[in-house]
Amino acid sequence: MRPFVLSALVALSVAVTSCSPAEPAAVPSLVPLPAAMTVGNGAFAPPGAVVIVAGAEVSRHADLLSALVRDTGGPETSIVPDGDGLVRLSIAPDGRSEAYRLRVSADGIELTGSDPAGLFYGLQTLRQLMPVPGSGAEWSIPAVEIDDAPRFPYRGLQLDVGRHFFPVAFVKKYLDRMAELKLNTFHWHLTEDQGWRAEILAYPRLTEVGSCRKETVLEKNYDPYVGDGIEHCGFYTQDQMREIVAYAAERYITVIPEIEMPGHAVAALAAYPELGCSSEPREVSTTWGIHDDVFCPSEATFAFLEGVLTEIMGIFPSTFIHIGGDEVPKTRWEESALAQEIIRREGLADELELQSWFVQRIERFLSANGRRLIGWDEILEGGLAPGATVMSWRGTEGGIAAARMGHDVIMSPTRHLYFDFYQGPKETEPISADWSGYPLPLAQVYEFDPVPAELTPEEARHVLGAQGNVWTEQMKTPEKVEYMVFPRAHALAEMVWTPQPKRDYADFLLRLPAVLERHAATGTAYRPLDTTPTG
Ligand code: ACM
Repeated sequence: MRPFVLSALVALSVAVTSCSPAEPAAVPSLVPLPAAMTVGNGAFAPPGAVVIVAGAEVSRHADLLSALVRDTGGPETSIVPDGDGLVRLSIAPDGRSEAYRLRVSADGIELTGSDPAGLFYGLQTLRQLMPVPGSGAEWSIPAVEIDDAPRFPYRGLQLDVGRHFFPVAFVKKYLDRMAELKLNTFHWHLTEDQGWRAEILAYPRLTEVGSCRKETVLEKNYDPYVGDGIEHCGFYTQDQMREIVAYAAERYITVIPEIEMPGHAVAALAAYPELGCSSEPREVSTTWGIHDDVFCPSEATFAFLEGVLTEIMGIFPSTFIHIGGDEVPKTRWEESALAQEIIRREGLADELELQSWFVQRIERFLSANGRRLIGWDEILEGGLAPGATVMSWRGTEGGIAAARMGHDVIMSPTRHLYFDFYQGPKETEPISADWSGYPLPLAQVYEFDPVPAELTPEEARHVLGAQGNVWTEQMKTPEKVEYMVFPRAHALAEMVWTPQPKRDYADFLLRLPAVLERHAATGTAYRPLDTTPTG
């Protein structure tokens, strides 16, 4: 496959202008498309070794560039802190975040970041300009001038490790692919009804008991229930979580941990039954869906959750801590004398306000520790905690309501950003979310604009970005996760990076095959495109 889409396609690209209409240059296949790019003539194709000039503050970036050049079959490189060289890396603050300017010509490469993250993203662009590793293509980098910065500060991808556990090596691979797409936030869904995956030293039974379920329901065998008879276990030690946080930070990715409360807590209740509204013994759940058993709003529960969150905050430096808050049946609270007593004591109207009271208490705890609470849009019900940020998943309505109230919002609606939904006709897709009634093809991801038209510019400023969610009920292996995530994450990346007026699905499809060839060279699976453009 050719690394570049031929210039005949320039007319289709709204973002690209050629310097030389008489002999137009090839248009590089970049995803996400840069904010501004001019394609020049010629290429950087040095005949011999290359000197990279990079000061001490960017020496790590220079090492990364050397590795990229080596891995793509390029020339020998050496790094010097100053003086002459064909390649120059630097940081020059210009008031923007995560931005970079890149100039490649036959004479050399100049890459300047507005900050270290911006310089890193410039290197990711250079990666896509180099030959595909192992392709045997002659090494060169096409002449371009790029001035680039992200549209949104929050560019997220989530992974549910509760339904199925995934090893550290896979989480790192996921982070590698995220970084290449300039995604900067990894939302790690660490606790679920079906498994608790985070070691908490003060509560060892969370992993001794909560990290193992005895089996898993066979798909579509709820009634009558049939299990697969295969135990499913796994958790991350605190050292492993720290290792992931550090690995992500090297790639300018923030890890946001999610500790689900008050629902999706059956694994925790299996470990500590006294935290439920009745102390009857429970098992880590072997079925999917919404479970009636939730944390009781008792002082014991708050002491437990504050203990858990204290350890979590010690591991994860992220400003945001995700507390879930979705899908909380109120049955147990309706039956609980304790819950009803709190409703009376606090003058609350009902169980919805009790949930809001619960979340507000946790929000005060996180705020007192210098963190910000983020939760699914159900946290709006019964009143939104001051300072809470809303992740809008049941459509965009929750996000719109929160933004209008002056709260920050991440858009992640099922219709556009649930990567567990099948990607084509259900009959031909190997995996699907069994609860989704509709497919989510690539085009439907791409077409989503995280900023709803009904928001005023002032309200729209509260939309920090968007996130793809990857619920893993039907994804038992890393390969299946990869198949479901890519290339929809490529569409997400362009959604959250590229200025809205420059986004064009037809043009994206023309650039995607070359980008997927590079993706495949990393040994990462993806769903093949329905049609390959013939440009
Ligand atoms: C969710 O999908 N329950 C957030």
